[in-house]
Amino acid sequence: MISNSLFTKNRNKLLSVLPINSLAIIQSNDEMPRNGDQLYPFRQNSDLFYLSGINQPKVVVCICNSHPNPAYREILFAVKPNPDYAVWYGHQPDKAELSEISGINTIFWLEDIETVLKDLMINTQNVYLSSNEYIKFIPDFQDRNLRFCLQLKEKYPLHHYHRLSPIITELRLVKETEEISLIETACDITGKAFQRILKKLKPGMMEYEVEAEINHEFLINNVRNHAYQPIIAAGENACTLHYVENAAACNDGELLLLDFGAEYGNYASDCSRTIPVNGKFSNRQKAYYQAVLNVYNEIQKEFVVGNCIDNLNRKTITLIEKELINLGLFNAEDVENQSKESPLYMKYYMHGVSHFMGLDVHDVGSKQTELQPGMILTFEPGIYNKEEKIGIRLENDILITNEGPVNLMKNIPIEIEEIEKMMNN
Ligand code: GLY
Ligand code: MN
Ligand code: MN
Repeated sequence: MISNSLFTKNRNKLLSVLPINSLAIIQSNDEMPRNGDQLYPFRQNSDLFYLSGINQPKVVVCICNSHPNPAYREILFAVKPNPDYAVWYGHQPDKAELSEISGINTIFWLEDIETVLKDLMINTQNVYLSSNEYIKFIPDFQDRNLRFCLQLKEKYPLHHYHRLSPIITELRLVKETEEISLIETACDITGKAFQRILKKLKPGMMEYEVEAEINHEFLINNVRNHAYQPIIAAGENACTLHYVENAAACNDGELLLLDFGAEYGNYASDCSRTIPVNGKFSNRQKAYYQAVLNVYNEIQKEFVVGNCIDNLNRKTITLIEKELINLGLFNAEDVENQSKESPLYMKYYMHGVSHFMGLDVHDVGSKQTELQPGMILTFEPGIYNKEEKIGIRLENDILITNEGPVNLMKNIPIEIEEIEKMMNN
């Protein structure tokens, strides 16, 4: 269990940046229906987890810096334990246990929310509400936070309403020591699963059998969830960037692209490696692999304080272009004459080189965010050429420090020789 001192520290950070006379309210994620009475496995809203450490649905956290009663500065609402529920699904935490997990002393049952909320609202002017502001996410439905926002504004139209997400984004971007340590554990378990695959992979194995090896290693290390759907892509499948069917055979002579990461204590890891199915790279595969590795080695040095993802992307494109010329895919003159709208490299490299990582695999933070000590990102150059059935991505996670980048996956084999050696031992 994560010490509640982390969540208390996180709430204190929020309290210190909220303008005076403010109330922040945040809701847990919805439980999502699968079919009949079956639900998808519950995953907590990352902002709510960040402030409370609570992993159950129908939870509300309120942070109020204007209430005259200090006991009302931090409140957690949760569903009252129900003896019938316990018969089917087991124990539900009581108030003392919810306090122990979160460090929040004032716990109410959800049935009291209307009256307590009224008290909080009449003692505040500014209300900060949470929403999913991930820039590329266009939802088809209203989530619990949005539904609550609409109801609250209708009930209390005279308050000033504000977005909480930009404030929590700033806080979540810089990781505490405890968070770094959870991510390191996630990275280490991901590494163990990769080592297991190096020993098990044989021509003819199915991609889902490789996935099963990952699941096995995750579960024996008490990892219940992947940080995202694993990509196990043999041969040409590796050229589909987010291939998740994992249903084809891994054939002799092909490469296998693996992109997967353990989630530990709700913190992500995100790793990509590309290995030869038969344990030996061909000369052409080696040339492609070394090209990606060269970019990887160069770009790693750029993860320094003050830089930003936009700059890293620009630098990566220059490096990849050079490597693509070396591979003979086009020449310098072609680059001179290329169209600005669809430059030649885009046929072989079509994604960004980095994203922030934390509670979410694609964590909060923008391409313009200035890198600061304590931030964690991935770096993931790749080259994909369907015509040669080669897709290679190499991805590690990196911690920004004042002394330079710290590679959190430095122990996961990446050099051609070490991979071949481990596969043939
Ligand atoms: N697997 C998702 C990513 O690497 O960003
Ligand atoms: Mn990634
Ligand atoms: Mn990845």
